[in-house]
Amino acid sequence: MSGVPVVAIDGPSGSGKGTVCRVLATRLGWHLLDSGALYRLTALAGRRAGLGPEDRTGHAALAGRMAVVFGVAPDGGERITLDGQDVTALVRAEETGQGASKVAAWPEVRTALMGRQRAFAEPPGLIADGRDMGTVVFTEAPLKIFLTASAEERALRRYKQLKDKDSAVSLAALSREIAERDLRDSTRSVAPLRPASDAFVIDSTGVAVEAIVGRVIELGRMRALWR
Ligand code: C5P
Repeated sequence: MSGVPVVAIDGPSGSGKGTVCRVLATRLGWHLLDSGALYRLTALAGRRAGLGPEDRTGHAALAGRMAVVFGVAPDGGERITLDGQDVTALVRAEETGQGASKVAAWPEVRTALMGRQRAFAEPPGLIADGRDMGTVVFTEAPLKIFLTASAEERALRRYKQLKDKDSAVSLAALSREIAERDLRDSTRSVAPLRPASDAFVIDSTGVAVEAIVGRVIELGRMRALWR
């Protein structure tokens, strides 16, 4: 691969990897790949184009050609545009996560997104957040982490993230949706969610973000990725 160092951080929804990855990328001054957002954007682009949910080749074509920009909003938060339109809130909706997990099960879509994901590996380094960063997309990554947390804690974290944006969200419904998504993500035939054989598995249940970040920094030092 490119020779650019990659830290692959995989895990199920709500395991805290998004936050951990953002903090790490900022602290190290490395690039960040939010691969889940690309699957979410593919689902959104499909919906916008009026594609049927089973249209694999149509979704794969959109995955390859959609114009995506990951930027920063005036308030410092994230801003994501799809073909020139701001879709930040839509991308993060739980419904979009469900749609993403459906299109993500198709090999055609995964292949179409491969080059786009690898292109994020630019100097000085990349923090890659996803489900198959260590097992498929960046198999040569010198540091792989698999972040987990109990199902209850993951649902609660997602609930806290979503309830400010969507007052209709319910913890019970969210727990059910996350369980469905986990099952689909870990039982699909291509790139199922599982730790790479050389990944460090870290359980973040009851552990603060800062402590997880500290552990990853320590592991990166052991691997001579930084000082
Ligand atoms: O991480 P996030 O919740 O944004 O991911 C949305 C969905 O995209 C996941 O449930 C999963 O099905 C899919 N995904 C994937 N491979 C990745 C990242 C996300 O299949 N590397």
